[in-house]
Amino acid sequence: MNEGDARRNRLAGQPRPLAQRMSHIEPFHVMEVLARARALEAQGRSVIHMEIGEPDFPTPRPICEAGMRALQDGKLFYTPALGLPELRASVAGFYGSRYGVRVSPERIVITSGSSAALLLAMGVLVDPGAEVLVSDPGYPANRHFVRLLNGEPVNVPVGADSNYQMTPELLEHYWSERAVAALVATPSNPTGTVVEQAHLARMASFASARGGMLIVDEIYHGLVYGGDGETDIRTRTALELGEDVFVINSFSKYFNMTGWRLGWMVAPERYVRELDKLAQNVYLSAPAPAQRAAMAAFEPETLAILDGRRDEFRARRDYLVPALRKLGFEIPQTPQGAFYVYAKCSRLTDDSFKFAFDLLEQAGVAITPGIDFGSHRAAEHVRFAYTNSIERLQDGVSRIEKYLRA
Ligand SMILES: Cc1ncc(COP(=O)(O)O)c(C=O)c1O
Repeated sequence: MNEGDARRNRLAGQPRPLAQRMSHIEPFHVMEVLARARALEAQGRSVIHMEIGEPDFPTPRPICEAGMRALQDGKLFYTPALGLPELRASVAGFYGSRYGVRVSPERIVITSGSSAALLLAMGVLVDPGAEVLVSDPGYPANRHFVRLLNGEPVNVPVGADSNYQMTPELLEHYWSERAVAALVATPSNPTGTVVEQAHLARMASFASARGGMLIVDEIYHGLVYGGDGETDIRTRTALELGEDVFVINSFSKYFNMTGWRLGWMVAPERYVRELDKLAQNVYLSAPAPAQRAAMAAFEPETLAILDGRRDEFRARRDYLVPALRKLGFEIPQTPQGAFYVYAKCSRLTDDSFKFAFDLLEQAGVAITPGIDFGSHRAAEHVRFAYTNSIERLQDGVSRIEKYLRA
């Protein structure tokens, strides 16, 4: 009996084992926090939600109306895998009007959330064993996308000294012969911090000089408020740097369309045909009603609603950051955007995971433990999301204060 037969005999009648890569894919711990919070609420307890990573605002009316028209008109067939041509043109137009950057609609790929854009980008770049640099802490799905393709995520530890972001120095330090890409999110989840344009430029040219690629996740663009001492809060896109970057974006956050599952990517032209093939095979097309609804996303009326909500997010940040500092959380730099505060809690606990669950049980405040975003000093950090009204945030802060006093 050869080795293959022996293995088959050994496994006969047993449930098929999982693919090995699954041992590297972790759940979002925040979902556990949310499930526990919902269970407490079902028992009648009140919970202040500061764990949820999506805007609490409903999708703006003009977008919903455009979506309803699509349903009424029966425009519900597959679209081209790259997206509706008119939506690709609208996204390109938005880069012109908002950023003053000209982008060809041909380079725009409409995707099923930016999640699909990230997966497609990795799909065309990552060979088995190839390395992709990601920030730690960072959005957890990124390293799992790399794993799904049998690549190796390289966690680049980032902290207060680098504004909780990858820097050109860190990128150069961690870049190896096997590296094919580095991914940065600006503003970042979980830290809300922004990468300077000059840093993006240096990172992009370092990667491209080595045949690699910088992927810039701009999903929190539009939600930038400025940091300490900053007066100019114009957001600049990595597309200013030229064609040799992948830029990822989404209708989820600034546009308040999480559940519609719609995002996009701007890719170097030479990749577009390959991305088209991959999108056809993976999901055929992004949801048609969502694409038609999103046609209203760039209307002046919609943008006015969204910019008003951005100002509300800024007011929440301006309340929350000093309030948390007063409680003993350390936030060395004011986060410039997104809707998160990544706070060091080591003066209050040595185990942020236990702290988060204890806070939920004892005080009825839901937050996300640092472990969700990587392993670098994760036990010393928690993430607060200000996706809740100022009044609820104030209630949350006073509950935390009482909990800490006890
Ligand atoms: C940094 C970052 N990128 C990408 C995503 C994926 O979002 P979506 O697929 O809804 O566009 C998220 C979601 O929270 C995120 O925080």
